[in-house]
Amino acid sequence: MNDMASCCDKNSDKEDVSRDDVQSFYSKAAVTAQESLCCPTQYDSSELSHIPKEVLEISYGCGSPIGKAAPQEGQTVLDLGSGGGIDCFIAAKYVGKTGHVYGIDMTEEMLNVARQNADQVVKNLGYNNIEFKQGFLENIPIEDMSVDLVTSNCVINLSTKKGDIFKEIHRILKNEGRFLIADIISEVEVPEEMRNNKELWGECISGALTLQEFLNYARDNQFKGLHIQKDYLWKEVGGIKFYSYTIEGYKFSSRENPCDSNSVFATYAGPFDTVIFQGTKFQLGVTVEIDRNTAIMMSSHSYSGQFIITDPKIEKPTESNSETSCCS
Ligand SMILES: C[S@@+](CC[C@H](N)C(=O)[O-])C[C@H]1O[C@@H](n2cnc3c(N)ncnc32)[C@H](O)[C@@H]1O
Repeated sequence: MNDMASCCDKNSDKEDVSRDDVQSFYSKAAVTAQESLCCPTQYDSSELSHIPKEVLEISYGCGSPIGKAAPQEGQTVLDLGSGGGIDCFIAAKYVGKTGHVYGIDMTEEMLNVARQNADQVVKNLGYNNIEFKQGFLENIPIEDMSVDLVTSNCVINLSTKKGDIFKEIHRILKNEGRFLIADIISEVEVPEEMRNNKELWGECISGALTLQEFLNYARDNQFKGLHIQKDYLWKEVGGIKFYSYTIEGYKFSSRENPCDSNSVFATYAGPFDTVIFQGTKFQLGVTVEIDRNTAIMMSSHSYSGQFIITDPKIEKPTESNSETSCCS
């Protein structure tokens, strides 16, 4: 069952597991570390040196989305389901004092741990750019088009209204912004009896989507350039394998000026002889005209060093000042 209607109905109509169940599960997990929730997430130790032990002990993620996204100085990052704050604290260092980091979580006890430890993180960094807000991911308390990067670490699977979250991510992202989500993905659809198991839902198992369902939600909400990385096998439950994945997607506005879209060039720099990127073949050392959206994707950390982008507008700065110069 791969179609969008079936995957949405599954999550919105059936609510045997509720948001209250998830909240009560994580209220306890904030106070007493839960072994069963601790995926073998591999953070680079240099990313953690400014973060107190109390936060690391209740790190319940299944990936390392901030390190993979490598946000730039000055950017605004928002972490969905921020828990004890680990990914917000990592992001705070990347974006520096001119950037800003929001952590959104519904669970009071998680926010308490995050806020109490933020003081120490701020002291260690020497600046304060972190803000934790209480809220639901299905109704994010943030303005439209105000965020450069949305991350999430093992959270989307917990929602019973996943479509609403993707809609909200699209709303709050700036044009050309992106999401980078680490989550648990099941190899096949989770059967209904397993979906009704509150404990397994809380443990990030029974609310997991298949990869196809996840991509359907992203595509249905206009995300482009989806980039998928299968990280590791997390658990096998009831004969079904559950994997950790990291998935990236971009928000692009539809460009009104058609001449704007074909004015950039990419040269593939290796290591292979040929690669296919977004359906286009690139040969080593051969320059190809691409659109600006593709250039943005190629310039992201995920493809670092693989493509050399040449932008005639930048090479001829006098022309680049004019919106219509690429057509002349
Ligand atoms: C598995 S923990 C992950 C926490 C954190 N990302 C980490 O890596 O440690 C899930 C977190 O998401 C929060 N959460 C789950 N569903 C939510 C929702 N619908 N709205 C807001 N927060 C939610 C929980 O309160 C919990 O703190």
